[in-house]
Amino acid sequence: MDETMLRRRKRLLGLNVNGRWREDAVTDDMLLVDYLRDIAGLTGVKTGCDGGECGACTVLIDGEAAPSCLVLAVRCEGRHVETIEGLAANGRLHRLQQTFHERLGAQCGFCTPGMIMAAEGLLRRNPTPTDEEIRTALSGNLCRCTGYAKIVESVQAAAEIAP
Ligand code: FES
Ligand code: FES
Repeated sequence: MDETMLRRRKRLLGLNVNGRWREDAVTDDMLLVDYLRDIAGLTGVKTGCDGGECGACTVLIDGEAAPSCLVLAVRCEGRHVETIEGLAANGRLHRLQQTFHERLGAQCGFCTPGMIMAAEGLLRRNPTPTDEEIRTALSGNLCRCTGYAKIVESVQAAAEIAP
């Protein structure tokens, strides 16, 4: 069997996605972003640059923000992956969704899920970040619409709401 065929062979991947255990057949070369969108049906995860540059595909892996276009799905065996779809609970928006909405941090909606997941990763490890720390945490998330002032303000406002 040649190398390409080996990579395309399917295996069962077991992982926790947004609090639910799943098992799905994936190829060894499938990217996490493609697994989440095409198999798990979580299209809030966006594909932008497909090369680790834009942050649109950011998800949390074991609580840490990571670009899902740079991670193989099979590397997430047994791990916890969270997407924007997993944040709202009991019919209520997550605090970051709420403040992005209220403070106009969300613009086109394409980069916003990744921004919010990167911000969530930050708030979990640093509940009271400075503006500078927010800007650093979001430096891998590109927005072409406007400046970042409203986005930083939205994250700061979310930090003031109890999780
Ligand atoms: S699509 Fe992953 S960083 Fe741009
Ligand atoms: S809000 Fe999506 S590119 Fe700016």
